[in-house]
Amino acid sequence: MFLIVAARFLAPDVKRFTIEAPRVAKKRKAGQFVILRLHAHGERIPLTIADSDPDAGTITIIVQGVGKTTKLLNMLEAGDAVLDLVGPLGRPSEIERFGTAVVIGGGVGAAIAYPTAKALREAGNHVIAIVGARSRELVILEDEIRAISDELLITTDDGTYGTMGFVTDQLRGIIESGRRVDYVLAIGPPRMMQAVAEATRARGIRTVVSLNSLMVDGTGMCGGCRILTTGGARFACVDGPEFDAHGVDFDLLVQRNRKYARQEAESLRRFLEHPERDLGLVRESCRLEQQHPEVRCEARPS
Ligand SMILES: Cc1cc2nc3c(=O)[nH]c(=O)nc-3n(C[C@H](O)[C@H](O)[C@H](O)COP(=O)(O)OP(=O)(O)OC[C@H]3O[C@@H](n4cnc5c(N)ncnc54)[C@H](O)[C@@H]3O)c2cc1C
Ligand code: FES
Repeated sequence: MFLIVAARFLAPDVKRFTIEAPRVAKKRKAGQFVILRLHAHGERIPLTIADSDPDAGTITIIVQGVGKTTKLLNMLEAGDAVLDLVGPLGRPSEIERFGTAVVIGGGVGAAIAYPTAKALREAGNHVIAIVGARSRELVILEDEIRAISDELLITTDDGTYGTMGFVTDQLRGIIESGRRVDYVLAIGPPRMMQAVAEATRARGIRTVVSLNSLMVDGTGMCGGCRILTTGGARFACVDGPEFDAHGVDFDLLVQRNRKYARQEAESLRRFLEHPERDLGLVRESCRLEQQHPEVRCEARPS
């Protein structure tokens, strides 16, 4: 059981949680994620470790409520708990002194890009952050990203904040101005990451994307997160989640991510009829776990 010590909405449907997980907090590196389960019958979902405090023994996750489990998670408050949390998983981001690094976060991708942007800055890079959202109220982590970047550009699709347009418009502007760009990291919806890859391909700018493929076990055993790159088939959970953007088959990624769309929609529909029932399951599972820690069968994080 992993206690939630703080929880706050950053935008509609986007919530930041601070969770007690001392061993994960001590080991995690930028780019890694956890897989958690909310209750005894819940599904396992991957979430990036946005930050950690090894002294306090806590990690931060930022969650966008898109389906049943993320919407249920976003109903939890400080004092509630998550039943299982495994991590840190995945390969850490490659952090080097590249020179000028452009870090792009689209939507909740800003939360996933934040820890890597911070590590790139600490490694001595000149970091240009581009944060994009559909509209003003969906821009997240503006202050946090400003604090760890040298330049911050904000775009909204509808022009309600920052510059109207897409993150790729800003990226193209930087490249076409003749400024030297040594490294690009893009995290967001697959089609956004694909557009970034196309914007940098001709100039051969090293470009990395973090893939949100469907995950189940997170250990390379189930095959759920298989993606195709020019190097062949890879598993995002153990070989990634970051990959060379110019080699990724984005069409296949999109196709595989839509595979269970019908079942996901049905499960969300049923959940929304009685969300309090699932909330009760989370609280009951955690209460039982607290009363009978000896009957746990799941492994604790390493
Ligand atoms: C390495 C990694 C890190 C991630 N980090 C974050 C994060 O920091 N914050 C955040 O809000 N989201 C993150 N995600 C996405 C998050 O895991 C999904 O939104 C979540 O699993 C959706 O579950 P659901 O039951 O709420 O929705 P569902 O109804 O099950 O699905 C809604 C959509 O979410 C995606 N999805 C569903 N199940 C999974 C799964 N097991 N793994 C990956 N994607 C799935 C699918 O595209 C689906 O269409 C990350 C995904 C990966 C792979
Ligand atoms: S999540 Fe099962 S192989 Fe990656």
